Amino acid sequence: MKLKVVVFAIIAAVITSCGGEAKKEEKVAAPVEEQKAVVEETDPMKDKGIGPVTSITLGEIDQKMADEGKAVFLAKCSACHKISKRVVGPALVGVTTRRSPEWIMNMILNPEKMVAENPIAKKLLAEYLAPMANQNLTEDEARKILEYFRTKTAPEAE
Ligand code: HEC
Repeated sequence: MKLKVVVFAIIAAVITSCGGEAKKEEKVAAPVEEQKAVVEETDPMKDKGIGPVTSITLGEIDQKMADEGKAVFLAKCSACHKISKRVVGPALVGVTTRRSPEWIMNMILNPEKMVAENPIAKKLLAEYLAPMANQNLTEDEARKILEYFRTKTAPEAE
C-alpha cells in the first residue's frame, strides 16, 4: 500500500514538472512566431494568402496558356480591372512581381476570406473600398490568368 502511494507521488511529481517545462517552452516560442509574422508582412512575395492554392512551381512562360488566361480575364475580370490603369480594382501590371503566385490564385479563388483575413488583401480593401468579387473560376482558369499576368510586367497602351 505505502509503496503504491510513493509511486503515485513520484509519477505526479514527474507529470507536474513536465507540464512546467512545456509552459516555459511556449513562452520562449511566442516571440519567434511574432518575428515570423513581421517578416512575412514586410516581404509580400513570401505571403501565400489563404485558400486552396498552397504551392505553385513556375516554369517558362507558356504562351498558349497565357492566351487562354487573357480570354478568361477579359470575360470575367475586365469590368473591374485593366492592366495599366486603376479602375474599380488595382491595375494589374507587374502584379506577379509584387505578389506570390499562390497569393494571386487565392485572391482569385477565395477573395471573401482574403479581404477579411489576409493582411495585404485587407489593406487593398481599405484603399479600394469595393470588395473583390468571386467569379467562381476553376483552379485551372485561375492558373491560366496567372500565366497571362506573368506576360504583363510592363504597362501597355489601352
Ligand atoms: C467587382 C469588381 C471586381 C471583379 C469582377 C474582379 N476584381 Fe479583382 N479586385 C477588385 C478590387 C476592388 C480589388 C482590391 C481589393 C479589394 O478591394 O477587395 C481587387 C484585387 C485584385 C487583385 C490583387 C491586386 C494587387 O494589387 O495585389 C488581383 C490579382 C485581382 N483582383 C484579380 C482579379 C481577377 C483575375 C479577376 C477575374 C477573375 C478579378 N480580380 C475580378 C475588384 C474586382
